[in-house]
Amino acid sequence: MTSLVVGAILLLLSLTGIVSAGRDVTGDILRLPSEANKFFHGGDDDEVEGTRWAVLIAGSNGYWNYRHQADVCHAYQLLRNGGLKEENIIVFMYDDIAYNEENPRPGIIINNPHGDDVYKGVPKDYTGENVTVNNFFAAILGNKSALTGGSGKVVNSGPNDHIFIYYSDHGGPGVLGMPTLPYLYADDLIDVLKKKHASGTYKSLVFYLEACESGSIFEGLLPEGLNIYATTAANAVESSWGTYCPGEYPSPPPEYETCLGDLYSVAWMEDSDIHNLRKETLHQQYEFVKRRTINGNSAYGSHVMQFGDIGISMDNLFTYLGTNPANDNFKFIDENSLLPPTKAVNQRDADLVHFWDKVCILCLLHRKLL
Ligand SMILES: *[C@@H]1O[C@H](CO)[C@@H](O)[C@H](O)[C@H]1NC(C)=O
Ligand SMILES: *[C@@H]1O[C@H](CO)[C@@H](O)[C@H](O)[C@H]1NC(C)=O
Repeated sequence: MTSLVVGAILLLLSLTGIVSAGRDVTGDILRLPSEANKFFHGGDDDEVEGTRWAVLIAGSNGYWNYRHQADVCHAYQLLRNGGLKEENIIVFMYDDIAYNEENPRPGIIINNPHGDDVYKGVPKDYTGENVTVNNFFAAILGNKSALTGGSGKVVNSGPNDHIFIYYSDHGGPGVLGMPTLPYLYADDLIDVLKKKHASGTYKSLVFYLEACESGSIFEGLLPEGLNIYATTAANAVESSWGTYCPGEYPSPPPEYETCLGDLYSVAWMEDSDIHNLRKETLHQQYEFVKRRTINGNSAYGSHVMQFGDIGISMDNLFTYLGTNPANDNFKFIDENSLLPPTKAVNQRDADLVHFWDKVCILCLLHRKLL
């Protein structure tokens, strides 16, 4: 026992070389990975340069698809609570749920069995027949003259801006549903993202995608170097899953005969709802959402994937989602997230991952010693 402790101390001492190497770089002590941004950019994480933009889209209609529009409404509330302005959030939803005759609470949409109304105040930018692939692409590209119908709101972004895109609906291999025809095809979407990048009108873009086979939208298609980081609810060959469904635990209030949300979507939003997002990275959220969405490895779970420029996942969520000041004292704590990404990382990020490895050895040691 004693020799074990002594051994650990010796190992710790031998690691002080690492610590002082860290000091040489920063003139400061080691920081947690969640503070890696500050560490590498030396910036004040209260300040994010540029404007935050968001495009939220539910690709379905019909009451049985309640959950997709509920997800999107929830995302809207989350971003507003985070401090994004209405003029910077573009919402695509068919809008046939809140006042649907089957809705037990007319005018109200919930995304959690105990959740508040998420419908209130959601702007009707593109509803009904205006929820089209063409308008979705035009909104991303900021091309007003390409719009047909809708509010005219587009992502009018500049080179320092950050863009968040969130889609929720059904999908299949290489295709995403829309409430109108045509559907949204992976290669067209990738072309639009490439075009947006070529226009030099964002600094980085994060895409969260909920759909069956959603991995197939980016796998082998989204190149690195576009400053885009995407995560998907499922891999390329499996379903993603609804949640808060009748008969499930937890189930919706008894008067609801429909699922209230989707597993991956609810995972990232319920995590974001309660934390200080200045202190949580995209990577930490990815790890957390991955664990929740696999659903204990049951048949009703899926494999969350990440694509594109994985290095962007070192950014704090704050950069894209803002943060609710009410959560300032609620920091995301997740020991598993201290592990480096499991996927291959590109050269640019190798240093950072290396740094994480060192931190992890130190914190593991630290825990054992205490
Ligand atoms: C905007 O859309 C219009 C109509 O589709 C197209 O002719 C034009 O080239 C687009 N502008 C840009 C900058 O892509
Ligand atoms: C579609 O957009 C047009 C133009 O803004 C608007 O007049 C129309 O009401 C919209 N349709 C729906 C279903 O919202």
